[in-house]
Amino acid sequence: MRQVTLVEVGPRDGLQNESRELSIDIRHELIRKLAAAGLKDIEAGAFVSPKWVPQMAGSAELLSRLDTGGSIRYPVLVPNLKGLEAAMAAGARDIAVFGAASETFSRKNINCGIEESLERFAPVIREALGAGIRVRGYVSCVAACPYEGDIAPGTVAEVADKLFQLGCHQISLGDTIGTGTPGRILAMLDAVSRMVPVAHLAGHYHDTYGMAIANIRASLDAGLRTFDASVAGLGGCPYARGASGNVATEDVAWMLEREGFVTGVDLPALLDAAGFVSQALGREPASKVARAFGAP
Ligand code: HMG
Ligand code: MG
Repeated sequence: MRQVTLVEVGPRDGLQNESRELSIDIRHELIRKLAAAGLKDIEAGAFVSPKWVPQMAGSAELLSRLDTGGSIRYPVLVPNLKGLEAAMAAGARDIAVFGAASETFSRKNINCGIEESLERFAPVIREALGAGIRVRGYVSCVAACPYEGDIAPGTVAEVADKLFQLGCHQISLGDTIGTGTPGRILAMLDAVSRMVPVAHLAGHYHDTYGMAIANIRASLDAGLRTFDASVAGLGGCPYARGASGNVATEDVAWMLEREGFVTGVDLPALLDAAGFVSQALGREPASKVARAFGAP
């Protein structure tokens, strides 16, 4: 299959780690531009504690401005029932719970261990599914953890399987600190795909060491057809020191089109979105493609 789905995570994963907090109006305009660029899955925000992640404050107002009932999906992160209630009130039709394959990362990120996180997610997923809301499940630290070092592929597979069994339609595999290389990513995918069918997996690769494009290319060979990416290469993770942004959406889109895959993304329109958000943040786009095209 040559069709590849890009899940744009810039307005959430990207902006959550930028020191400059953007207004709801600017975040809304960014999402509008991303939609105009042909992206059909745009992660719009996070219903987490604003004390933990101030950049995501206002996600309820932002989501309520979007047409969540239309052809574009706007998933939001939800860590617990309190978040689910607020997300539903704002019109969410797609949510994502987020766990980890590292005990220490889980505690630093959501203040509980892996087992307890799954216990917290179970009623969130059950209630969401009951209300007709789709649930995605993230697993962080699929290659390594900033605190524990390398993570065994079997541990990733176990957490992915549990989230899938709980009812997540897709498991997004996060190389949170970007230390994965193609061989390591393929070993991890081999273990995970024994538990969760590959059609239900997504790659979520941060580009800290410039390995994300190589990891996506390897994952395509392993059968994955969904990848998360962040316009202009924004972001990182506030609980993973040294993490840089997600792989840039424009770099992934350019590579995929050159390799004969179909993404539905309009590159000039995407570069317009990259230029817009970079200007709002007062920095240059991190992507190679934006530089190659001379984007502002
Ligand atoms: P906690 O302190 O254990 O929770 O935090 P709590 O239930 O004891 O509540 C403490 C306070 O938070 C209370 O407020 C609650 O009302 C409030 P206070 O009484 O102190 O004023 N609270 C909430 N507020 C808003 N929305 C909520 C919510 N829940 C409680 N849903 C909690 C637990 C999960 C809330 C906290 O740890 C948290 O918000 N963590 C956020 C972590 C986060 O957003 N991390 C970044 C996203 S994950 C990521 O980037 C990785 C990923 O990209 C994949 C990859 O790259 O690996 C997905
Ligand atoms: Mg991430």
